[in-house]
Amino acid sequence: MIAAEQFNFFAELVRDSSGIALKPGKEYLIESRLNELSRVIGLRSIDDLYRKAKFSMTPKLKDQIIEAMTTNETYFFRDLHPFQALEKEIIPKLGTSGKKIRFWSAACSTGQEPYSIAIILAEKFPHLAAGKAEILATDISQQAIQKGMSGRFTQVEVNRGLPVTLLVKYFKQQGAFWIINEKLRRLVRFKKMNLLNPFVGMGTFDVIFCRYVLIYFDQGTKKQILEKLVSVLNPGGYLFLGATESAIGLPSSMKRKSFGRTTCWQKDSGKLTRSIKDEHGRRNSKGLSGRGQRESGAVRPGLRRVGAGS
Ligand SMILES: C[S@@+](CC[C@H](N)C(=O)[O-])C[C@H]1O[C@@H](n2cnc3c(N)ncnc32)[C@H](O)[C@@H]1O
Repeated sequence: MIAAEQFNFFAELVRDSSGIALKPGKEYLIESRLNELSRVIGLRSIDDLYRKAKFSMTPKLKDQIIEAMTTNETYFFRDLHPFQALEKEIIPKLGTSGKKIRFWSAACSTGQEPYSIAIILAEKFPHLAAGKAEILATDISQQAIQKGMSGRFTQVEVNRGLPVTLLVKYFKQQGAFWIINEKLRRLVRFKKMNLLNPFVGMGTFDVIFCRYVLIYFDQGTKKQILEKLVSVLNPGGYLFLGATESAIGLPSSMKRKSFGRTTCWQKDSGKLTRSIKDEHGRRNSKGLSGRGQRESGAVRPGLRRVGAGS
């Protein structure tokens, strides 16, 4: 078992650099991930890594430790319903503005999330995919970003969430890998970015996916990141969190919005005229269009999931 002194050192380093909070009880996680890192970089054990990090830390070593402590679990069309909401409700609405639609997959991991958005654009909105939409995909992990950029996925990865019709249409098999086609790759711009840093020089977005990353942060960090996300969201824009993630800390300018079986958060557009309460007493916004909550959760054949995944 890792010594308390080492646990505290690595937990503090990881929290200060990435926001990831490793509370007591996560000793096994630090130990297994950092023992593996030690082996990869030619050290004998986590004890050596501790001494090196404590007395002769380099930016590269720090990045390697953070990288080792990130959890990059992801798959195509994860949770499905947010992508159905994009396809059926959100993109058609945003598409009428004539302006370029900007998506941000914040904490995109190895790219399955932004590529799922790109596939929807190519498949259902080719006119938008041809220059009227762009997707920024960012993550703290350089390795994850590089893999995303390569657009190269294993059989196991494409089996998770990607319908086979879309696989054969948008990917080419090359040996043991599947390579995403150039058109889709060009829709997504990958960039290494730490959510703890200021969000500068990135413009504003119509849709932000920030899913399954805030769960790793403490409440204060989560609140700060949510505020920054909202600050780069256009009026009327949408924020998706992970299905199990709470929205505690979201500014009051964000209104809960349900599309079928998914819930997201919409930024006040200034045009919202009144609020209604649903039968459960929760507040829902009703816009000028007069549409309240939509209950349809029908699954589009094109986006039916195959293989593993929830
Ligand atoms: C579990 S994955 C989620 C991927 C994707 N959003 C999804 O839902 O499938 C969490 C990702 O958050 C990234 N991450 C963790 N801390 C981060 C930070 N401070 N800034 C940016 N990305 C971070 C990790 O590298 C990892 O790729």
